[in-house]
Amino acid sequence: MKFFIDTANLQEIKEAHALGVLDGVTTNPSLMAKEGITGKNNIMSHYKAICDLVDGDVSAEVIATDFEGIVREGEELIEIDDKIVVKVPMIQDGVKALKYFSGKGIRTNCTLIFTAGQALLAAKAGATYVSPFVGRLDDISTDGIALIEQILTIYRVYGYETQVLAASIRHPMHIIQCAELGADVMTGPLSAILALLKHPLTDSGLEKFLADYKKGNS
Ligand code: G3P
Repeated sequence: MKFFIDTANLQEIKEAHALGVLDGVTTNPSLMAKEGITGKNNIMSHYKAICDLVDGDVSAEVIATDFEGIVREGEELIEIDDKIVVKVPMIQDGVKALKYFSGKGIRTNCTLIFTAGQALLAAKAGATYVSPFVGRLDDISTDGIALIEQILTIYRVYGYETQVLAASIRHPMHIIQCAELGADVMTGPLSAILALLKHPLTDSGLEKFLADYKKGNS
């Protein structure tokens, strides 16, 4: 399972990368705004700074919602770095753009996926990744993990190569549940990744080991 971090914060990306388990980064316009990155030039340079920090794919989202605009922005974004994956929203012109990009060998991440039907369309259009939003479905009392299972089933039945990128991951149980199902990738905050390593028995066990060592070696 690939681990992507869902942030535009360079410090968090560095920390996740230093842990040695980071496979890529996803961003979105809200995450860029949260870091105070505004204006096209600043946004493009920030994507470059992210690409320079990591070894894997970096999803950069288009703002345009019409076919020509999405294609224009996507073609500009891929010029930044070979790691860039063009993030395209699940809208009618977005599906057309996914098909266009796929024909040109340009990698894409279809975002804002909330149903299996949307994921099926994105796969048919040749998306490299689909991003079903697990946490946002849970937020409205709908089972986000069940959607991951449904999409994986459909993709396996037809052999689609589109990778399921479980997005809007909020906590470690989301990661475990996605891993059990075989999601290709998860993207979440650093806090969810770091929460995987925590257990009170690990902490108390280590405390005792160190205390016993100290007793025998003082
Ligand atoms: O980047 C897309 C997705 O991961 C957003 O997550 O936490 O804003 O629902 P969240």
